[in-house]
Amino acid sequence: MKTHLIQSITPAVKIGNTTKLFLGDCFDVLQSFHEESVDMIFADPPYNLSNGGFTCHAGRAVSVNKGGWDKSKGVEADFEFHKRWIDACRRVLKPNGTIWISGTYHSIYACGFALQLSGYHVLNDISWFKPNASPNLSCRYFTASHETIIWARKSRKGKHTFNYDAMKNGNFPKDKIKAPGKQMRSVWSIGTPRADEKVFGKHPTQKPESLLDRIVLASTNKDDIILDPFMGSGTTGVSAQRFGRRFVGIEKEKEYFSVAQQRLKRTEDIQRSSLFEREACGA
Ligand SMILES: C[S@@+](CC[C@H](N)C(=O)[O-])C[C@H]1O[C@@H](n2cnc3c(N)ncnc32)[C@H](O)[C@@H]1O
Repeated sequence: MKTHLIQSITPAVKIGNTTKLFLGDCFDVLQSFHEESVDMIFADPPYNLSNGGFTCHAGRAVSVNKGGWDKSKGVEADFEFHKRWIDACRRVLKPNGTIWISGTYHSIYACGFALQLSGYHVLNDISWFKPNASPNLSCRYFTASHETIIWARKSRKGKHTFNYDAMKNGNFPKDKIKAPGKQMRSVWSIGTPRADEKVFGKHPTQKPESLLDRIVLASTNKDDIILDPFMGSGTTGVSAQRFGRRFVGIEKEKEYFSVAQQRLKRTEDIQRSSLFEREACGA
């Protein structure tokens, strides 16, 4: 981890030489980072959808409430929140850096508008289709089965990283699949997280590792610094470690921070032992 990343002393948990985790509010922690110090940001901010509704899980009606952090404070206040963190992220992003923001219709339009006001330049909006999405209980709407992920670079002029060949011909180890040798399109069909991604505890909005693997491989190079200001259970960090990138994560809830810490420690151990095996075999 480059020492110049952090300006002032903010308590952090280090995992190996590549990962730094901060337990706290991203607005406070981001202030302590140097300007233009990270290469890519993946942000999965609160959806603002936990307002008493119901969804279907394993055939039963369950509350959609994900926690106090996900409650809406009203359209304008939610927009102000998104604009503030998007501005704070722009300050720490390198001139050629990119940001990915994931959300549903509850939050993604506010994020998209805030991105544009902030001066970012939108590159794509990915439709992440979930083939195993929960059914709709009310039978009065279409079944929600996708999230939108906006990809934008810091400014119109930036020269962003896009690993075109890896997206066309690369291997995706988590899925044990090879890209089909055709240009990758903007609709991605990826299932929700598997049981083995939740062994240290569940997060109500955990992203699948396959989704983050694709994002990391598409838009970063080895040793790049990736920031996740709403780290949750640490999925972005797992993919960053898997592909030799450096990672900085921020999460304000202790319970999720602890899940992330355990997941990232395990991934670091796996990476270290496979490196040891490769070296021992002379590969
Ligand atoms: C949508 S979840 C992210 C889930 C994550 N992508 C994963 O795969 O586990 C958003 C997370 O942001 C955290 N959060 C909300 N507001 C925050 C803030 N101001 N600073 C830091 N974390 C925050 C919540 O506690 C929650 O864990």
